[in-house]
Order: sequence, then structure tokens, then C-alpha cells
Amino acid sequence: MTDGKKMTGEVYYPAPEIIEHAHIPDYDKVNDEAVADLPGFWGKIAAENYEWYQPWEMVLDDHNAPFYKWFVGAKVNIVHNALDRHMRTATRNKAALIFEGEPGDSRVYTYQQLNYEVSKFASVLRALGVSKGDRVTIYMGRIPELMIAMLACAKIGAMHSVVYGGFSTEALLDRINDSESKVLVTCDGAWLRGNIVPLKQIANEAVARAGTLQSVVCVKRTGQEVEMIPDRDHWYHDLMALPIADPGAPTEVMDAEDPLFILYTSGTTGKPKAILHTHGGYMVGTSTTLKWVFDIKAEDIWWCAADPGWITGHSYIVYAPLILGATSFMYEGAPTHPYPDRWWSMIAKYGVTILYTAPTAIRGLMRFGRSWPKRHDLSSLRLLGSVGEPINPEAWKWYHRVIGRERCPIMDTWWQTETGNFMITSLPSMPLKPGSGTRGFPGVVVDVVDEEGDPVPVNEEGYLVIKTPWPAMLRTIFGDPDRYVQQYWSRFEEQGWYLPGDSAKKDEDGYIWIIGRIDDVIKVSGYRLGTAEVESALVSHKAVAEAACIGVPDELRGNVIKAYCILRQGYEPSEQLSIELRDHVGHEMGPIAKPSTVDFVESLPKTRSGKIMRRILKARVMGEDEGDLSTLAD
Ligand code: PRX
Repeated sequence: MTDGKKMTGEVYYPAPEIIEHAHIPDYDKVNDEAVADLPGFWGKIAAENYEWYQPWEMVLDDHNAPFYKWFVGAKVNIVHNALDRHMRTATRNKAALIFEGEPGDSRVYTYQQLNYEVSKFASVLRALGVSKGDRVTIYMGRIPELMIAMLACAKIGAMHSVVYGGFSTEALLDRINDSESKVLVTCDGAWLRGNIVPLKQIANEAVARAGTLQSVVCVKRTGQEVEMIPDRDHWYHDLMALPIADPGAPTEVMDAEDPLFILYTSGTTGKPKAILHTHGGYMVGTSTTLKWVFDIKAEDIWWCAADPGWITGHSYIVYAPLILGATSFMYEGAPTHPYPDRWWSMIAKYGVTILYTAPTAIRGLMRFGRSWPKRHDLSSLRLLGSVGEPINPEAWKWYHRVIGRERCPIMDTWWQTETGNFMITSLPSMPLKPGSGTRGFPGVVVDVVDEEGDPVPVNEEGYLVIKTPWPAMLRTIFGDPDRYVQQYWSRFEEQGWYLPGDSAKKDEDGYIWIIGRIDDVIKVSGYRLGTAEVESALVSHKAVAEAACIGVPDELRGNVIKAYCILRQGYEPSEQLSIELRDHVGHEMGPIAKPSTVDFVESLPKTRSGKIMRRILKARVMGEDEGDLSTLAD
């Protein structure tokens, strides 16, 4: 460890060899350059690292802010940069994806092979009537075909809308309908903890009630009997064996600002919203951030242990690693199956060099003690990463000591579905403080401010804001541009700042410490859920008249959901009903959304205009001051 500038608190300084190896050895220098000339900074990166069918006329168009445009006038396709261009270089023969299934089966796709599969499936989608601008919903387990389906959509200019495989019927149905998808790509089942999650069965229930859907493509993964509806449903392997599956399918020429995908995420109110990302800016942003933050080099085996169904997987399993020509590892199942050393054994087996995961997973594996990781040779690891929720210093230190053997710096990356890529993060060359997200990525100006937008004093809590636009930023909410403006840009409209919805502190060294959400979003095991969605799942049960949910801190899962229900006449509170309601939410939304407790109440605290004051419920549970009660109706 070197002795850098004296900083406050507990600081881990990077070793000289890590700084030497880093793409960005001097954060301040690069950040200053970027902030001084944002279009110049991103324009140079974009020109030097990607192939464009046609160059841009303008790097950043902010005339119609917050509807920012990047690389205006350029023609590109992200898949051209993730696959097509590698066919002309030695990267063609390199492993793009190394996959291990939960039962232990394993597959390797070179860039050539992946391109072959993607091209074939792209022409299958075209044959099913999918064209540029159409939506395709993908609902699958963590298997290579999920990645193939996403890339095939992007190749033909269709937008994918991936629904996390842990969601169930209602959540899937809402997303199919809202996106007006033409095709659903799914699989018979997914392996999890030695069991089969019956995805096709869940999909069948949803599709039976979905309006616009024309075809379903089903990948055979788990092999059990599933119901296939004639004319509507097709086996993936049957379609891929037909002459229509053309490995020479052309890549659609897209505008840099054309939509690449939508991804639903929970917001403050109502149903999840479809965040829209585009081909050009997202391509540049995701790959540059991955390259710099995880210092990706040709020899790395990169393992982002997230699910492709979330933004982390979209950006850092599917797109960014392929654009960089890197090798990714992907694992299908549970970290503890069949034993709690499954992850550590695979790191040793495949020689993984970088592991990127969520604090909840680290805490979960920590519970089993250090003897499990100790049995394996983890010396291939050189960097670690964390995402999804604040990492508590205890978990940080365990990760650093037991997994990283005190050699591997931990990159804590703060970002969101909306931001598309890392926004607040450490770089390998920067001193680290356990639990701090460190600083804004070069060019990303972040601050912590009060109600008026003035910076709060050092170490005091305030609103996290982002003051500069960035290439991979969301462009809108699909089908609801007003809500886009209202949700993210209205709080500090005058200043033109983006509001992520998190609170944070900034310390003496300018390091950012994320505290948590300021809205009704709950992070359960790093998964983002809205109180409104869980409440609407509860009131869809015949016994429930009204419901309110809050998130309360939990050692393992970050937060858990606590639900309060007012019952309809004729229903009595009981333990049995409480279990039934929890299961009902599980069935409607998926197991991750199940409340940990359901309490029955006579009334809920509300404002005079009838809004539930969840803050009061939470203060009561936490034994805290209930604050200003003047707006309380009763
Ligand atoms: O509250 C922040 C938290 O996750 C939210 C975004 O959730 P989602 O869109 O699902 O994306 C998660 C993966 C990028 C943020 O508003 N969050 C994410 N990363 C961190 C975090 N909180 C603290 N530290 C992080 N590193």
C-alpha cells in the first residue's frame, strides 16, 4: 500500500502495481478534463473506440433538455460493435461467454459462435414478424439463450423488454401489455437450488390474458413436460433448425438515438415504468465505465454475478463486456447449491479475475464462515465489485479479507436502471473507504444538496443530485414522457439537475456515502420494488380492503417488506390469513416481493387528501420520532 494524500477515516490505499496496471492512473486529471469539455471528452472516446456507420454532427444536443441527445446524426448498431466487428480480428476465436449451469453442465461460446447464434435467432425473429421498433418480451432463466435473444433483438432494431425470471404472472402480464410486445421468448424452466422454476407455466398464465402477443418461443432447458399452444408456441431449437435461421442475417443500421431496449423498474407511485435506453450513448457509456472501473484487459475473466434481467446484467453481462472483446463467465443458479462454496469453486475452476456482485450476496455467503472460501484457490482474483445497495463496512472487510485476500481493491459502484452505467464509483487507482461509493465517474458531477439546491455541510445528509448529462442516460419513460420530466427533472428544474431519489452525505475528502432511497422504493436483497406494486398485489386479494407497505432494515437482505392490511367486512385477522396473503403476493409478483410480515390494522395514517403516510408507520416500527404530524387527517 502506498501512502497517498492524508485522508480522513479508514482508508485503503492502492498498491503501486495496481495503479500501474490501471487504465486511469490519475482520476483528478481525467475528471478535470472531462468536466471542462464534456462533448470533447466523450466525442474523443466515441471516435477512438467504436465503429460507426456514419459519424455524428453533434456530440451532445441539450437544446431540448431534459430530452438530451448524444451523437446526433450518427448511424450505428450496438451489436455491430459487440459482435460483427470482432469477426474481422483474432477476437473472433476468443471465448465471449463461459457458462456453467446449476446442475454442473458447461458451455463455451467464442465470439464467432455467439455471433452465429445471434444472427440465426435475429432472422427467426424477423420471420416471426418482428421488425425495427417492435417490442419483444424476454422471460428466462440465466442461460446463454437469454443473452442471444437480447442481442438478436438489438441486431434487428427491435427493443427487448427483459422481465426478471424471479417475477411471476401479474408482473409479467403487466409488462407484456404495457410494452405491447409481439413476441415472448421464454424457456420451459430454470434451475434454482436443485428445483425447477416453471417459467413456461407462469408465462402461459400471463400470455392467455395478454392482448398484443402473437408468438411465444420456448427454449428447452429443464426438460419437463410443458404445455405448448399450437400455432402460438414454438420450440427455439425447432426454429433454429429451419432454413429461415440465417447465420448471415444483416445487422440493422440504426440511428444513434434509436431505442435499444426498455427495462421496467419501480418508481415512487403506481406501476413500474419502462426506462428507455438507446444504441449510441449506451454503447459508449457502458463499455467505457466497465473498462476504466474494472480495468478490463484481454486476459481477464469477468464475472458479473447479477441477473441479465436487471440493468446490471444488461449493461455488464451482455453489452459492455462484448463491446470490449472481453471474456465473461455466467452461472445459472444459486450461490449455495449444492454447497455454500459453489461460487468459490467456480472462481478457482475458471480462473475468474474479477467478481462483481451485491452486498446481500456477500452477507449471505459470509454467514457460512470463512472455511468454505478457504478451501479454494482464489488467487486468480485481482479486483472485486459491489452494487445495488450500500455495502456495510463489515461485509466490505470480509469481502476484502476473505475473498480478496487483502490484495483486491473493491469497486463500489453506485448507479441505477435509469443511469445505464456506473455513476459514482471508485477506480482501481483511488484510495478506498469501506462503505463509500467514492467519487463521480469522470465527467459525472455529483453533489449533495438541501431543499433549495444548496450544498449541505460536510457529513450532513441531503439529496443526491447529478449535475451533468452523460451518454448512457435514460432518454425517457417509454410511452410517458411527462412522467420522465416529472420524476427525474422537476425537483431541481431551475438548475437542470437529475434527481436519482437517493439521499447521501459527502465527507471531508469529497467522498460520497449513499444512505438510501428518499421515496417509496424498497431495496430487498438489492432488488428494487415499489411499495405501490406490493400494495396493489395485496388489495387484489379478496380479503383486503386497504394495504400499506414499508421497508425496514434487515441484516441479511438490506431491507424487508412489512405490510399492514385493513380487512374487508367478513374477514377476521388470523395467522393463517397472514400466510395466505404473503403467498398471494409471491404468486402475483414473485418470491422477492413477499412481505416478511403482514399485520392487520383498523386504520392507516393518512393525509387529509387520503395519501398513506408510510413515514409514520416506519417511524413507529423503528421507534423514531414521527416528525411533523400536521398533515395527518386523524
Ligand atoms: O438506491 C440506490 C441503490 O439502488 C438504486 C437503483 O436500483 P436499480 O435501478 O435496481 O439499479 C441497481 C443496480 C445498478 C439506487 O437508487 N444502489 C445501487 N447501487 C448502489 C446503491 N446504493 C448504495 N451503493 C451502491 N453501490
